[in-house]
Amino acid sequence: MNKKVEISFQDEKIELPVITGSENEQAVDISKLRSQTGLITLDRGFKNTGSTSSSITFLDGERGILRYRGYSIEDLAQHSSFLEVSYLLINGQLPNFNELNNFKSEITNHTLVAEDVRSILDGFPPRAHPMGVLCSLVSSLTAFYPKSLDPNRSLQEINGTIIRTIAKLPTLAAWSYKNRVRQPIIYPRNDLEYSSNFLHMMFALPTINYEVNPIVANALDKLLILHADHEQNCSASTVRIVGSSHASLYASISAGINALWGPLHGGANQAVIEMLEQIRNDDGNVKKYVQKAKDKSDPFRLMGFGHRVYKSFDPRAKIIKKTCDEVLEQLGVTDPVLDIAKKLEEIALKDQYFIDRSLYPNVDFYSGIIYRALGIPTDMFTVMFALGRIPGWIAQWKESREQNEPIGRPRQIYTGEKLRDYINIKKR
Ligand code: CMC
Repeated sequence: MNKKVEISFQDEKIELPVITGSENEQAVDISKLRSQTGLITLDRGFKNTGSTSSSITFLDGERGILRYRGYSIEDLAQHSSFLEVSYLLINGQLPNFNELNNFKSEITNHTLVAEDVRSILDGFPPRAHPMGVLCSLVSSLTAFYPKSLDPNRSLQEINGTIIRTIAKLPTLAAWSYKNRVRQPIIYPRNDLEYSSNFLHMMFALPTINYEVNPIVANALDKLLILHADHEQNCSASTVRIVGSSHASLYASISAGINALWGPLHGGANQAVIEMLEQIRNDDGNVKKYVQKAKDKSDPFRLMGFGHRVYKSFDPRAKIIKKTCDEVLEQLGVTDPVLDIAKKLEEIALKDQYFIDRSLYPNVDFYSGIIYRALGIPTDMFTVMFALGRIPGWIAQWKESREQNEPIGRPRQIYTGEKLRDYINIKKR
């Protein structure tokens, strides 16, 4: 039976259709609301608004469920590789051997970036945050591949841009770090797997032979899988909305990187470690910071806590916490902030303020501690998130274009001045 919602406004009654998703989530379709009643909806921060229908990622925040294309995040993190998950997100199905090998070899063939990108990189001062450098370099790819600007390209050409994006991102990300530490850039090595190649470009020097530690490479691959997509979050919505104007994939991804950068989104992983260090330097006084987070007159928040959609637990955080313990043990690393993080979590989870608001550790709470153990510097954490999110952004951009979604253009309720007469400057 087709469900409907009845709305009455000023003696008028209208019926709006209810759309049901494959997991039984339901939405009122308001596309005719304005034409039939003159009303629009107002929903700051889109807390109750679905912006699209999508078959990429399913997320149930109440039950702590996350699935890519129907596969549970737990299964994928345990059994899959980042490139296999990338294929899955972008193409909708897990690849067979042939498909995966072709996908990998296409990506491997495009890891090198144009030599002129080096002169762009040289223009950045050493203090430049790697996220700013990364989004600029991604955007600069439009200059090297101007055909990517054509919204009416063939599917084959679009696929070429997709492959180049996945292939070149590790190179650009590692180079944004090399700029930061003023070391010579290292070129990609096509004999290495995706994550190993990235680590090599990050840490090798022309003078020293650098062997990638497989424990580090495996942990990184798993982290990238956990970050690969998260349905209509701030950066994915940005990518879709930029893409809806028929801007190129590179431009849309660059915008997504900028959206991810903020500390309320992907930038939280950097902010978490900075917060834990701050607590450590303050005699490890965890209770003081829990109090500060609850104090409404204090802007401080517990970074890595809370989520717009997860209201029981973040399944990614569960996997990351376990991985964190394993990786530190395997690498023989001890990190004093891990103890602070665990104590903070323990106290916050028992505190009524956090219970009442369903605030739990999110994906960013423990990821920074693993990144540190892997040798990744703090201001590269969000770049690592971006690297993982690339296939998700691509899948979201591609789906939006395939669904021929109209240009994203919200409305507003105007609260400014009514029409008034222009006043000459001498009389103001
Ligand atoms: N510390 C203290 N109080 C918090 C926190 C926090 N981390 N997060 C939410 N609250 C409180 C908030 O003050 C509000 O209280 P009240 O109802 O009394 O006004 C209530 O909880 C609801 O918070 P909100 O800000 O309305 O919730 P939101 O859905 O708009 O924001 C969030 C979600 C993730 C931005 C927020 O929880 C936050 O700022 N967390 C810290 C930053 C962070 O860890 N971000 C990473 C998110 S996960 C990675 C990703 O996918 O981006």
